[in-house]
Amino acid sequence: MLSIEGLVTRYGNVTALKGVSLDVAKGEIVGVLGPNGAGKTTTLLTVIGLLKPTSGRVRFMDRDVGGLAPDRVVAAGVGLVPEGRWILASMTVRENLLMGAYPRHDGEAAIKHEIDRVSEIFPILRERQGQRAGTLSGGEQQMLAIARALMARPKLLMLDEPTWGLAPLVVEEIMRVIRRLNEEGTTILLVEQNARQALAVVKRCYVLEVGSVIFSGTPAELKGEPLLTQTYLGATAR
Ligand SMILES: Nc1ncnc2c1ncn2[C@@H]1O[C@H](COP(=O)(O)OP(=O)(O)O)[C@@H](O)[C@H]1O
Ligand SMILES: [Mg+2]
Repeated sequence: MLSIEGLVTRYGNVTALKGVSLDVAKGEIVGVLGPNGAGKTTTLLTVIGLLKPTSGRVRFMDRDVGGLAPDRVVAAGVGLVPEGRWILASMTVRENLLMGAYPRHDGEAAIKHEIDRVSEIFPILRERQGQRAGTLSGGEQQMLAIARALMARPKLLMLDEPTWGLAPLVVEEIMRVIRRLNEEGTTILLVEQNARQALAVVKRCYVLEVGSVIFSGTPAELKGEPLLTQTYLGATAR
């Protein structure tokens, strides 16, 4: 479904991605792990079209989308839940959801149906419909950010550190939803620094370090690599 090949992305003189290649097949749930500054966010921003690659290819459902504008990539079926959530704090929950539906042109009834669907996944959002998004808790804002991305009915949903800064119970709930979305047919690319959580959910993962893929395989294979296990699971192994 998604195929990234030899992706190079720069910020001025800083080469953030030094030839990243990764694939996500339809129906898969794939993780991208790696420390701060590894290039995880840059990878997602390049796929969605917010950053232009210097070289390399991004193919989505047999189309070249590398360098396309974000609205075109979203319209093609890619959703992004950005790092830091980026909810519109002064707008209501419902208005935030409507923003997520902007690429759709199938009318009010379909969009209302979608709001019902995401409110069924996150019941708290129905209760808080008229509330300003900035007054939600961190966990609720994350749920809103995911729900907003779902409003466009993405075929591939990319999530950038969706559990960052959240309490353990909320982390579990978010992870449960991600797994459910995948089971219901959405392909998932999950970026996490919280390796333990991610490895419990993903079927395959990549590890990025300073702009390069240094590992790809199953969680079980990752656990067979002593150095990687120590780096990514050691500190939190309990
Ligand atoms: N706006 C920016 N300007 C300059 N350098 C940046 C910018 N954003 C990220 N970088 C650099 O690109 C590299 C990758 O960053 P990023 O993709 O955010 O990593 P990650 O998401 O894995 O923490 C880092 O070296 C970071 O300092
Ligand atoms: Mg990041």
